[in-house]
Amino acid sequence: MMETAEKAWPSTRMCPSHCCPLWLLLLVTVTLMPMVHPYGFRNCIEDVKAPLYFRCIQRFLQSPALAVSDLPPHAIALNLSYNKMRCLQPSAFAHLTQLHTLDLTYNLLETLSPGAFNGLGVLVVLDLSHNKLTTLAEGVFNSLGNLSSLQVQHNPLSTVSPSALLPLVNLRRLSLRGGRLNGLGAVAVAVQGLAQLELLDLCENNLTTLGPGPPLPASLLTLQLCNNSLRELAGGSPEMLWHVKILDLSYNSISQAEVFTQLHLRNISLLHLIGNPLDVFHLLDISDIQPRSLDFSGLVLGAQGLDKVCLRLQGPQALRRLQLQRNGLKVLHCNALQLCPVLRELDLSWNRLQHVGCAGRLLGKKQREKLEVLTVEHNLLKKLPSCLGAQVLPRLYNVSFRFNRILTVGPQAFAYAPALQVLWLNINSLVWLDRQALWRLHNLTELRLDNNLLTDLYHNSFIDLHRLRTLNLRNNRVSVLFSGVFQGLAELQTLDLGGNNLRHLTAQSLQGLPKLRRLYLDRNRLLEVSSTVFAPVQATLGVLDLRANNLQYISQWLRKPPPFRNLSSLYDLKLQAQQPYGLKMLPHYFFQGLVRLQQLSLSQNMLRSIPPDVFEDLGQLRSLALADSSNGLHDLPDGIFRNLGNLRFLDLENAGLHSLTLEVFGNLSRLQVLHLARNELKTFNDSVASRLSSLRYLDLRKCPLSCTCDNMWLQGWLNNSRVQVVYPYNYTCGSQHNAYIHSFDTHVCFLDLGLYLFAGTAPAVLLLLVVPVVYHRAYWRLKYHWYLLRCWVNQRWRREEKCYLYDSFVSYNSADESWVLQKLVPELEHGAFRLCLHHRDFQPGRSIIDNIVDAVYNSRKTVCVVSRSYLRSEWCSLEVQLASYRLLDERRDILVLVLLEDVGDAELSAYHRMRRVLLRRTYLRWPLDPAAQPLFWARLKRALRWGEGGEEEEEEGLGGGTGRPREGDKQM
Ligand SMILES: *[C@@H]1O[C@H](CO)[C@@H](O)[C@H](O)[C@H]1NC(C)=O
Ligand SMILES: *[C@@H]1O[C@H](CO)[C@@H](O)[C@H](O)[C@H]1NC(C)=O
Ligand SMILES: *[C@@H]1O[C@H](CO)[C@@H](O)[C@H](O)[C@H]1NC(C)=O
Repeated sequence: MMETAEKAWPSTRMCPSHCCPLWLLLLVTVTLMPMVHPYGFRNCIEDVKAPLYFRCIQRFLQSPALAVSDLPPHAIALNLSYNKMRCLQPSAFAHLTQLHTLDLTYNLLETLSPGAFNGLGVLVVLDLSHNKLTTLAEGVFNSLGNLSSLQVQHNPLSTVSPSALLPLVNLRRLSLRGGRLNGLGAVAVAVQGLAQLELLDLCENNLTTLGPGPPLPASLLTLQLCNNSLRELAGGSPEMLWHVKILDLSYNSISQAEVFTQLHLRNISLLHLIGNPLDVFHLLDISDIQPRSLDFSGLVLGAQGLDKVCLRLQGPQALRRLQLQRNGLKVLHCNALQLCPVLRELDLSWNRLQHVGCAGRLLGKKQREKLEVLTVEHNLLKKLPSCLGAQVLPRLYNVSFRFNRILTVGPQAFAYAPALQVLWLNINSLVWLDRQALWRLHNLTELRLDNNLLTDLYHNSFIDLHRLRTLNLRNNRVSVLFSGVFQGLAELQTLDLGGNNLRHLTAQSLQGLPKLRRLYLDRNRLLEVSSTVFAPVQATLGVLDLRANNLQYISQWLRKPPPFRNLSSLYDLKLQAQQPYGLKMLPHYFFQGLVRLQQLSLSQNMLRSIPPDVFEDLGQLRSLALADSSNGLHDLPDGIFRNLGNLRFLDLENAGLHSLTLEVFGNLSRLQVLHLARNELKTFNDSVASRLSSLRYLDLRKCPLSCTCDNMWLQGWLNNSRVQVVYPYNYTCGSQHNAYIHSFDTHVCFLDLGLYLFAGTAPAVLLLLVVPVVYHRAYWRLKYHWYLLRCWVNQRWRREEKCYLYDSFVSYNSADESWVLQKLVPELEHGAFRLCLHHRDFQPGRSIIDNIVDAVYNSRKTVCVVSRSYLRSEWCSLEVQLASYRLLDERRDILVLVLLEDVGDAELSAYHRMRRVLLRRTYLRWPLDPAAQPLFWARLKRALRWGEGGEEEEEEGLGGGTGRPREGDKQM
């Protein structure tokens, strides 16, 4: 559009009298220009919440250049995962000098050229996992001096060049997990210069030996060698692992304890050996490893194993944690752990225990005083018995029995843990929870009962849980909430009842929950909700999740008051995906009263009709999702968003929209993110765009946008600015596959044909209206003044250079002498013209021809007074001829013809020379109308002065074809 403006300017300057239409055009152009200036990237999306974080995922890219070339140089993070790149060329990312994080996972990378990461001097994280790299060559990581984490997991990596990692002077974490490396030695050589390296992960390789190689860097604290083929630990120097604190050797093939004697292990604080066929007690006997540094999990302990372990662990100080996972334990007798030192955490997960009873019975008196955390997950526990009167563990605050097969929980089952705060019983088969199961757990804050088979919750089940904050009952089979079931839960903030069988809620269901903030009722079978149900929690409730229930409305008019009208604190309401076919219809004023609501989701509901008043109270709404309504919703009713002045996020993906109108979208002045993908939109109207003044992100993918002038402004994508359009270069023209909106020819749009036609015809019509009036009223006066003006102007501008004896030679026939002497001469000589008349000024004695020649050449002009007798005269013919020669000679037009009589065409044809002259020349006609005579004189004088007849006369002469005056000119 700017183009038109620029083009218009020069012409307006040149011709001010014609500028009106152009001004008009300019004005229209400027007002139509959209205020939104979008931008976008060919293959990347900038994160809306984290600017300069770019995702270019699943774009079938074969080279990073296709993604990187249009990214801004100050990009911070780049994710190129799930593409088809095979190699990285040198300096592939060179212009992204501010990049901190680069993710290249899940590509087909086989080769990294030396210098591939040139320019990434501030890169901190580089992830090359899940590619096809077989080698890390020299020079690849040049210039990555700031890199802290390098992930090369799950590549068929078999060689690491000794100097490949040298440039990574700040590397802290290196993972080569899942490769094909077969010796630690080569890696040790490669990392020996890395003075900051803290973690080296070589799990899941094909390591068979540790050496030969230099010691690992002193900074290396964690070495992971799990899932390899180590049988020996030979080859390395004894000091190789001198500084390592955490060593993971699990799942190797070490069977001989003797192999450990070749290494110094005294400094190790945690050694994992699970998955090795090893005699652990023999190992403790012959190596210098500290028993408390050994993780006994998964080791074959043999008969009396537990006692032996406990004896080895003895020491003056309390043990922080005893981990006995995967030791195949089936039964724990009373006092089974009595020989162990005092401990704080006991983990018995992944065994085959069917019964633990009341935990206190396993421990000695001192141990009971100290135990804080008990974990018995992934066992075969069947029931939790009553523990009334069992030994108490006064400090036990955290118990987990997840992943067991517990069917029932007896009365007072946790009487041994009065200080319990967190209790996890989830993922079991609980069908029955005794009314007294949670007896006196006054300090319990978190209770997880989710993923069980509970059908009934009894009155007073939770009555002692005064401090409970979170109660999770998700994924059970609760179908009724009896009144008073939540009695006593005075502190409860989160109640999760999702995934149950609830059909109805009554006014009493939620009683006794004065502090409830979050209520999850999703994936139940609720058929309706009403304001009375929520009345007990209406002052505090902030989050209400009702997604995937069976809510339905068949009338636009509610029979009862709007269901949420008193939930004045609610800020998040989820209503998406009602079963089986969606909500279909929202009643009038459905969301009345939700004055604090910030997020509302209505997606996947196949909405067919939404009344325009439905969002009226939602002035605080920030996020609204109406996605996936495509089979129902068409265009939204006018004014539906009129009160949503705070809306930031609007998801209308796949909503079946055909058009966007100002009536619907005109008020969303704070909207930042707009999802419109998969709609039937043909245009994205620029008038709507200009109202969305805060927009930052626009997704129009898979809309059949047409290549018309309405979408022309979208081509402004290349001018980087405020609104990011998602993948702008992939919008095709409707369903055409090879024509793109970003490249269609918009020239035609600049020519507003209608406007041009209007601008062109309007003045003409106006002129046609005005001219007859003026003509009728003031023809002569106007013409006379116009003439004077032109003379004056000409006089100003031109200068005569040559001096003549006469102003004019008058050539006439003696028959017209009376007119000449009585009219012409007095008029002209009085007007200070010097005239040459043959009877007066010809020199006697000279030949008549000489006299004529002199007269013609000494006069600036020659006036021929043409009449019938003049035409017949021979002399006159000569004079005209001479004057014509001079015209050829000097290229000056000196002939002025005055027509005294109307000479008909027929008469003229006899004098063909004169006729030609008359045809070509301008001439003045002597008017008989006295009113016209002053004009005649004025024109004549002007003609004499400057030698030119007016343009109009010329037209008369030519236009008439024969020199015959036309009707309108007759009087002249
Ligand atoms: C592991 O290493 C052994 C011996 O070096 C070799 O025979 C075997 O093929 C390797 N396995 C893999 C998966 O590379
Ligand atoms: C429960 O917690 C309170 C405060 O944290 C504490 O004073 C009280 O002793 C605890 N109750 C039990 C039985 O440990
Ligand atoms: C999207 O556009 C880019 C850049 O024009 C092109 O390389 C890519 O093939 C397109 N992808 C699809 C799925 O059309």
